[in-house]
Amino acid sequence: MIIRGFRGELLSVSRDPHHHPDAIRHEPDGLLVVEDGIIIARGDYQTLAPRYPGLAIDHLSGLIVPGFIDAHVHYAQMDHIASHGEQLLDWLDRHIFPAEKAFADRTHADRTANLFLDELLRNGTTSALVFPTVHAHSVDALFDAALDRNMRILSGKILMDLGPEGLADTVDSARDESDALIRRWRGRGRLGYAVTPRFALTSSDAQLQVAGALLADHPDVLLHTHLAENLRECAAVADRFPTAHDYLDVYDRFGLVGDRSVFAHGVHLSDRACTRLAESGAGIAICPSSNLFLGSGFFDFGQADAHGVRIGLGTDVGAGTSFSLLHTAGLAYQAALSRHYPLDPFRALYLATAGSAVLLHIDDRVGGLEPGQEADFVQLDYAATPLLARRTANATLADRLFALQILGDDRVIARTYIMGQCAWDRQGIAS
Ligand code: GUN
Ligand code: ZN
Repeated sequence: MIIRGFRGELLSVSRDPHHHPDAIRHEPDGLLVVEDGIIIARGDYQTLAPRYPGLAIDHLSGLIVPGFIDAHVHYAQMDHIASHGEQLLDWLDRHIFPAEKAFADRTHADRTANLFLDELLRNGTTSALVFPTVHAHSVDALFDAALDRNMRILSGKILMDLGPEGLADTVDSARDESDALIRRWRGRGRLGYAVTPRFALTSSDAQLQVAGALLADHPDVLLHTHLAENLRECAAVADRFPTAHDYLDVYDRFGLVGDRSVFAHGVHLSDRACTRLAESGAGIAICPSSNLFLGSGFFDFGQADAHGVRIGLGTDVGAGTSFSLLHTAGLAYQAALSRHYPLDPFRALYLATAGSAVLLHIDDRVGGLEPGQEADFVQLDYAATPLLARRTANATLADRLFALQILGDDRVIARTYIMGQCAWDRQGIAS
């Protein structure tokens, strides 16, 4: 049994403050007590410390928040981030499909998966829902690398039988390989599986049906796909499925809409789709840097809130332009404001932590720094840059948090802890 204390300024938002303003929990001088990777107590240092005489305590400067949770990211695209010149469908053809074909090589998949998870840790991200490639071993590579780091990672082989030559599976291989992966990885480490049809345009009706059957057979897995990201994509979906009410209804007809479904983007949603998302409990992973980069548009926070749609935050690298969920939270503010809907910085922190955890069904384990949860947390440095130091000096908590989101990125991440162990240290001495 290893028990350790962490003293510092603690902040977490475990429920959406838009609906639960009392969900913001802040201890200016707090103590986290961690036993074997699990938080067993949290509170004001002066009050809590006497209950743990002799406790070894690390003093952490700056601000301690839950590890960030990326609700939508592509590990196989990391080397093709910042690829110039196209919107979604052309960008896929020109840059992304060729990049993903390289993952037929398991060694390439292993190397990239390890670099990817290190990049997450450098950015303070401790959990993620990840697109790999169509190759089953791309999931093995990611899960092996996640096991090595004891990270809470969810993923699943992409289904895309209508994909380009060299990157297409079949109805049968999609079913058999997904089924085998679910059975191989279930219950191992902190991993979870997501049935992952790429999007409506790359799967046949028969394959979408297989996706629905996999979900019905395995009630513990998630559904992860893209939804209503780009106008040309939406038009092509409407063309192929003329009887569907809207894009979401296409997925609904194959049994893919439920409370374990995570849809990336949702930039162009009908009110009907928002009503259906809310009643089903499905979630949207909002990806503001990607939506800006590919010219997709701005997520409509007002529409989502009016219908009570569950939301979280994703980077969507490689269409996304940063692995930093702090920076992504800053862009979410700007995207929301472009629709005259200012996003509160505490709510933005919620979206990047517990909000995404709810979408991924891991909110009982992580996202809130609450006793009983796993001790995944990040130490943020208010003085990471001279400008940030000046902007945060003598500022309120809300101002400091907002400045971290607008001005911050990976430079702000002093340390990242996985289950109470330092997994990334900016000074280069991770234990
Ligand atoms: N829609 C289908 N595939 C993709 C992808 O790889 N990235 C993004 N942003 N959207 C998609
Ligand atoms: Zn994506």
